Amino acid sequence: MNLSKRIKQVTPSATLDITAKAKQLKQEGVDVISLSAGEPDFDTPQAVKSAAIQALNEGFTKYTPVSGIPELKKALSRELARANHLSYEPDQIVVTCGAKHAVYNALQVLVDEGDEVIIPSPYWLSYPEMVTLAGGKPVILRTGSKDGYTFTAKQLEKLITKRTKGIIINSPSNPTGAVFSKTLLEEIGRIVKDRSLFVISDEIYGELVYDGVKHYSIGALDPDVLARTVTVGGASKSYAMTGWRLGFLAAPKSVASASTALQSHSTSNPTSFAQRGYLEALRSGAADVEKMRKRFEERRNLIYRIVNEIPKLTPFKPSGAFYLFVDISKTKLKSIDFANRLLDQAKVAVVPGAAFGDDNAVRLSFAASEQDIESGIDRIREWLHKI
Ligand SMILES: Cc1ncc(COP(=O)(O)O)c(C=O)c1O
Repeated sequence: MNLSKRIKQVTPSATLDITAKAKQLKQEGVDVISLSAGEPDFDTPQAVKSAAIQALNEGFTKYTPVSGIPELKKALSRELARANHLSYEPDQIVVTCGAKHAVYNALQVLVDEGDEVIIPSPYWLSYPEMVTLAGGKPVILRTGSKDGYTFTAKQLEKLITKRTKGIIINSPSNPTGAVFSKTLLEEIGRIVKDRSLFVISDEIYGELVYDGVKHYSIGALDPDVLARTVTVGGASKSYAMTGWRLGFLAAPKSVASASTALQSHSTSNPTSFAQRGYLEALRSGAADVEKMRKRFEERRNLIYRIVNEIPKLTPFKPSGAFYLFVDISKTKLKSIDFANRLLDQAKVAVVPGAAFGDDNAVRLSFAASEQDIESGIDRIREWLHKI
C-alpha cells in the first residue's frame, strides 16, 4: 500500500528507538545499563494512583468533555497563576494526551503550508517533525555549549523572513538542560510582538531546576506576548506520570477552541480516570515533586562530576531537566556510531545527538539510579580507553 507523502517525510523517534532496543536486550537477559530514558525512574505518587483507582471504582469510565474535566482545567488555571504567574482562564486550557500532543495540536492549528517555524538547536527531536507534519518548514537556529545553548536577539532576527510564523522554545531544555534567562525571554518576547509571530513555550520541565535557578514563563513577562503564546506543560516529568499520557496547552481562546475542535476529531478527551489522578497530583503532589527534584539535583551533581573527569568527554552542566549533554568531538566519533558501538560493546544505552540536531554530542539521562549512573559511566570510561 502506498503511504502518504506526509508520513514519508517523517523519521521515527530515535530516543524511543534506542530505549526500545535497550529494553529488548534487557528482556533477553543482557546486562544493559540504560542512560537513554526520557522519563523519571520514580513511581507515580501513591495518592495520585489512589485517586485514579477510586475514579475507576466509582465508574468514572465514560467520555469526558473533549478539552478535559472542568475541575482539572480550574486546577491547572490556579497552578499556572501560582507557580508561573500566568493568567489563563479555564476555558483557555485544553487537557491533552501528553505534552507531545499539546505541541502537535498547537502546530496543527497555527501553521499553514510553507510557513516557517524557528527552532533553536539542539532541539527536542519531535519539533521539526511536527512542523513538517503541519505542512511547515522548520528553520534551525544553531546554538552551542560555549554560549550555554542560548542565543542573541540578533541571531534570531537574522532567521526571520516574510514566511516566518513562529518560534518554539523549550526551557529547561531537552536535551541540554539549559534554562533561558529572563532577559533572553524578554528579548524573544519583543521580537515575537514586533514581528507578529507566535511562540510555543514548552515548559514540561519547568519544575525541575537546580542551583536555585529560576524558571520563567515567557507569557508571564508581558500581556501582549501572552496573547501570542501557547504555553505547554504536563504531568509526565514532574509527577513521574509518563505512561498516564496527560499534558495541556494554555493559549488565547481562539487557539484553545481550535485545538479542542481538532482534538474532537482525533483523540477526543484524555483518559477519564487518569484526569482524576492529575487533579490529585495538582492538589497534593508538591512535596513529591520537590523530593524528586532534589534527587535529580544530587544525581546531576554526581553525573556531571564523573563525566567531567573523563578527558575525551566535555559535558555541559545542566540547570534543569534530567539530561547531561556531552560533547564527544575529542573521540573523533559521530554520535550515531558512538551510541551504537557503546551499546553493542559496553552495553550502555545513550541517545545520539544527531537526533537533536548535534552530531558531535550524546545525551545521557540521569533519570536513573545512582548505581546505574556510576556503573554506566565506569563502563563508558573503560570503553573509551579501549577504542
Ligand atoms: C521537551 C519535551 N516536550 C514534550 C515532551 C513530551 O511529554 P509527554 O510525555 O507529556 O507527551 C517531552 C518528552 O520527552 C519533552 O522532552
